[in-house]
Amino acid sequence: MKYPKEYLEEIKTRLKVSTVVSKTVNLKKRGKEYVGLSPFKTEKTPSFTVNDEKEFYHCFSTAEHGNIFDFVMKTQNLKFGEAVKSLANLAGMQPYTFSKEDEIREKKWNNYKSILNKYVDHYHDELLKNSNSIRAKDYLKKRGLTKEEVQKFKIGFETNDLNFQQNIFKEFNENEIKDTGLFYFDENKKKYVSRFRDRVIFPIKNISGDPIAIGGRILNDNKYLAKYINSPETPFFKKGSNLFNLDFARKLSNNVNNIFLVEGYMDVIGLSKNKIDNVVANLGTSLTSRQILTLNQFFDEIVICFDGDDSGYKAALRAAENSIIELKPEKKISFLFLPEKHDPDSFVNKNGKDFFLEFSINNSVSIHKFIYNHYFKEMDDNPSSRATFEKKLRSISSTIKDEFIRKYVLEYFLDKISELTPNTISKYKKNYSKITKSLKSTQNYYNETKSFKAIDIKEFSFLYILLKKPELIKDNFDLIENVKLFSSENKLLLKEILVQTNNFENTVIEKINVDQNLIDRVLKYASIKHIMIKNFNDDEKILEILSEITRDLKNYELEIRIEELESRFSKDLSEVTFNELKELKKLQKIN
Ligand code: UTP
Ligand code: MN
Repeated sequence: MKYPKEYLEEIKTRLKVSTVVSKTVNLKKRGKEYVGLSPFKTEKTPSFTVNDEKEFYHCFSTAEHGNIFDFVMKTQNLKFGEAVKSLANLAGMQPYTFSKEDEIREKKWNNYKSILNKYVDHYHDELLKNSNSIRAKDYLKKRGLTKEEVQKFKIGFETNDLNFQQNIFKEFNENEIKDTGLFYFDENKKKYVSRFRDRVIFPIKNISGDPIAIGGRILNDNKYLAKYINSPETPFFKKGSNLFNLDFARKLSNNVNNIFLVEGYMDVIGLSKNKIDNVVANLGTSLTSRQILTLNQFFDEIVICFDGDDSGYKAALRAAENSIIELKPEKKISFLFLPEKHDPDSFVNKNGKDFFLEFSINNSVSIHKFIYNHYFKEMDDNPSSRATFEKKLRSISSTIKDEFIRKYVLEYFLDKISELTPNTISKYKKNYSKITKSLKSTQNYYNETKSFKAIDIKEFSFLYILLKKPELIKDNFDLIENVKLFSSENKLLLKEILVQTNNFENTVIEKINVDQNLIDRVLKYASIKHIMIKNFNDDEKILEILSEITRDLKNYELEIRIEELESRFSKDLSEVTFNELKELKKLQKIN
């Protein structure tokens, strides 16, 4: 049995030729095409090209030519059916199973499509040609739409043409018509009536460009009637799976990396009128992960730009929490917030394309920042609210499917949280790791220093200054007298240096009574070395550095003592320990 065209088309629209080919051939972009070494022949100069727009590959040296199915069949030696299965899987689609029902469904789909096409074409014509449509025309004109947009989106006006309805009921059977959702049975009038009568209609198409549903807007806003009504769910229109304008927008994915995701029909049309065509709408329903995955098949960055009102903000937050789950390396999701009372349509019409794009570059916020900022704003200044805040962020990051993204989003959240909790250990650990990171000027050097702890290296810097600038130390003894070192070897070295300094002598390295290796280590690995060499005669600067280092070392010492006390307090719960702990924390704040 034949695969339905619809199914094969969907695979083709979901998978770019370059995506499929690049699994086995190394491709380089050249203009609109990709080139690479032919998989059909051994060659040194690339003669194999891929064109995503035209949906084929071509090999100039062997004259091989075809689409993604041909490519997989030929390079993997598969039968057509096997190639379809493998590519459907790659496209994230269910394998196709043939049955009697499939045959029926395919027939149904053809009729469904046919009814929708007739309906869309007819009422598009009615809008353009029928004098009854003048109100609708005026309305669209008032909203700034020209014939160009009307034609591009095949906008129509439902004039409730009973002749048309009769013809449809003659040509198709009742159930099939009912399934389209275009008409419903009115129990009072005992007849079918047109769902969208007297509304401007916007066809919603599937990814391949076939109309599958309708959105209809009333001409005059009115508190008894919904401003927009959309087709109900039908066998071929599932909410949360489709995106308005995806069929157009996806074709631009060879030229642009990002796609704007907006709420409404008019937002898409408004942007498109301003020559921004990489835009889709989820039509006021909540964004699903399926929609994110679909967009990611074509675009690396999704810019979510909802209305600048309260409900737009809420929808954005919901979208953020639903879509962060699917965030993948190499992909980006960001949010663009518009000034209040604007939606993308009004904003772009007021300011124009360039301003809109510039505004978008300067004002979009990455998804993880948006989520953080939102919950940060919600949080009150009390422990319970703060704890809820941290838990919420941890729980959001734990939903992320990709383990790398999960790790880095959590890291971002914790890093920000540690700024709120300067008294807990994690921050200092982080500071020290930042210090070691900055040491990694060369890999070699890094490998050697790796054997030291961050605190050792900090101590080296401290000792380095003492060794190299003894005259300076002598006059600023108060700076160093209370510093405690942790490494026993460094401690020993410090003690010996101080013995000399205490005697009011300048340190003479050769005379220090310790193993020369200890001194060599300091001279070689002190992170401060390069800065010292550069500023050797700038005593003020060196003193500044020294006091910074001593502050860090004292903090580190406090840190360790606090850690000890905290662990003791958790066991003894004694007042004395608690007070001591409190004092230390106070000290830590002062430092
Ligand atoms: P908006 O109210 O923001 O509509 O709803 P809009 O697109 O900006 O329309 P105009 O400018 O007032 O004409 C955003 C989307 O939510 C859905 C529609 O898909 C709409 O485009 N919606 C809105 C409904 O389905 N029903 C409604 O009653 C309202
Ligand atoms: Mn709007």
